[in-house]
Amino acid sequence: MHNQVALVTGAASGIGEAVARALAQRGAVVAAVDRNEVRLREVVTKLVADGHQARAFPADVSDAAAVERVVTAVERRLGPVDLLVNAAGVLHLGQARQLTDQQWTTTFAVNATGVFLMSRAVVNRMVTRSRGAIVTVASNAAGTARMDMAAYAASKAAAAAFTRCLGLEVARYGIRCNIVAPGSTDTPMLGALWQNGGGPQATLQGSLDAYRVGIPLGKLARPEDVAEAVLFLLSEQASHITMHAMTVDGGATLGV
Ligand code: NAI
Repeated sequence: MHNQVALVTGAASGIGEAVARALAQRGAVVAAVDRNEVRLREVVTKLVADGHQARAFPADVSDAAAVERVVTAVERRLGPVDLLVNAAGVLHLGQARQLTDQQWTTTFAVNATGVFLMSRAVVNRMVTRSRGAIVTVASNAAGTARMDMAAYAASKAAAAAFTRCLGLEVARYGIRCNIVAPGSTDTPMLGALWQNGGGPQATLQGSLDAYRVGIPLGKLARPEDVAEAVLFLLSEQASHITMHAMTVDGGATLGV
């Protein structure tokens, strides 16, 4: 990945931050995108201080004009984007029948529309060069029903389906599009899940009430565990893999 330009959304925290670091450690030039400008600049400053190539591009992925602006700016300043990772995401918990319009709309705006907008902007440029790889970070909840996650799971299923269809359409240009579906990963987002009680132990053990079996491997994912799967799918080692969804959840969805 030496000197390849890698655009990573959600790079200010958790999985996106770990992906940005892992890419930078392999010599990529990282275009770090996030709407949390303060935290994004901290992450990028640390990467640069550690001798890596990275630059901050603050933007909201659900804003079509901002996405187009940012991709234009990345290509002008860093060069053609070779790799894209859609990791920005939001989680609004709530029972399906009590979700507000706004919770539903915001969830889809970031998790589904954000993936569409960023992928469209980047892939149209990749097509002219006939090279590139895209990974969308979805969720194991996209394929397994989870209590209180109807909006989130539906938005992730939309993002995953979009990424697969895109992969089909651009395969003829040699562009690969894959999905990583994490389970419980130790990031600030997971903390939100524990606000109504629970905690790591409850997540590991599962809950009959919530129809969750727990995590067979007996541990939460570290953001780096998810990042490794993302990097594999971006890499030449995965050169014949496209439209694939790789679950990284310690067995929490029983391999389904
Ligand atoms: P996080 O909350 O630590 O990081 C998410 C990042 O996305 C934040 O920096 C946030 O500012 C950014 N973001 C949110 N909305 C944005 C927008 N509109 N534009 C630009 N940036 C925006 O969460 P985490 O855990 O690192 O999540 C990364 C991805 O992994 C998300 O897509 C999430 O849904 C997914 N995921 C996380 C799991 C977990 O257990 N942590 C499990 C399954 C999937």
